[in-house]
Amino acid sequence: MPSLIYNVCRHASDLLYKWLFDILLPTKEIWPADNMKAKIGFIGAGRMAEAMIGGLISEDVYSEKEIIGCAPSEATRARVASKLGIAMYGTAAEVSRSADVIVIAVKPKHISGLFGEDGFRLGPEHLVISIAAGIRIKTLESYVPDARIVRVMPNHCCMVLEGASGYSRGTRATDGDMELVDGILSSVGLAVEVAEEDLDAVTGMSGSSPAFMYMFADAIADVGKRNGLPADVAMDLVAQSFVGAGKMMLETGMTPEELIDSVCSPGGTTIEGVRVLDGKDMRSMVREAVEAVIDKSRKMGG
Ligand SMILES: NC(=O)c1ccc[n+]([C@@H]2O[C@H](COP(=O)([O-])OP(=O)(O)OC[C@H]3O[C@@H](n4cnc5c(N)ncnc54)[C@H](OP(=O)(O)O)[C@@H]3O)[C@@H](O)[C@H]2O)c1
Repeated sequence: MPSLIYNVCRHASDLLYKWLFDILLPTKEIWPADNMKAKIGFIGAGRMAEAMIGGLISEDVYSEKEIIGCAPSEATRARVASKLGIAMYGTAAEVSRSADVIVIAVKPKHISGLFGEDGFRLGPEHLVISIAAGIRIKTLESYVPDARIVRVMPNHCCMVLEGASGYSRGTRATDGDMELVDGILSSVGLAVEVAEEDLDAVTGMSGSSPAFMYMFADAIADVGKRNGLPADVAMDLVAQSFVGAGKMMLETGMTPEELIDSVCSPGGTTIEGVRVLDGKDMRSMVREAVEAVIDKSRKMGG
């Protein structure tokens, strides 16, 4: 009899523990109120995911509570959770269970390892938006044959709602999926649908080219500082000139050549600098840089 009482008590306490740890705590960690699913889950929470999440929250496309993310390192999870206010997990498996729209935002070299992770399963219920540079739709579909895939090449300016993205449709993606992806990307900048073979060129045009523009800006501002301007004033003047030049190209319908002409008054100051850049064949250097990006993107895709 005492052993029966002991066993009953032990069983009851086991159940209580299971209830507390397996049911109550994970539920509390995920969605305290109603155990609802997240609207979108990010696998990888580095620079690009942060930029996209920041843009989506600031544009009210999704609230903090509707977005989840994951990263293996505790430091990244803590940083992103405190900066963006979203729930963060340690594994992709947890994200795939808690959201049906999944953004794959890990480095291309981590893609194959990711799809081999325990418990990470993507099925027909998932729309998978991959932003991994160079990873082809057919490669992604070989890992997750049932999921609907859209491949995207965004750029990090989506953090300030001035992104520029190209996207391509996977075999099983529906019209509704394409609308959703277009809506998400358009809310944080310009979004254009392109054929998949053109995504390598998009990588060169907008995915990577902000880095070249920052190099250009840094060099111009440096000269401003050496000529007496405070560093912040020099950088603000350059940055605003980039914004203005971008808007001029988008809004006037003028070509770059026409715009260059309109800045260079005859006998004026600008033409002196244009001559220096032309003398050093700056355009061919830039072309070479963009070709290098496109080439690398093609090689990564195999
Ligand atoms: N940066 C850009 O401007 C840009 C532009 C267009 C496209 N992209 C594409 O965006 C993707 C991300 O680039 P990024 O610059 O944001 O890289 P990143 O800053 O290095 O971020 C990568 C993230 O992936 C996480 N991660 C690694 N293995 C993981 C796994 N098994 N499960 C879950 N998370 C994992 C890392 O976590 P830890 O922090 O814990 O290591 C990190 O948070 C790349 O594929 C890149 O081609 C980037």
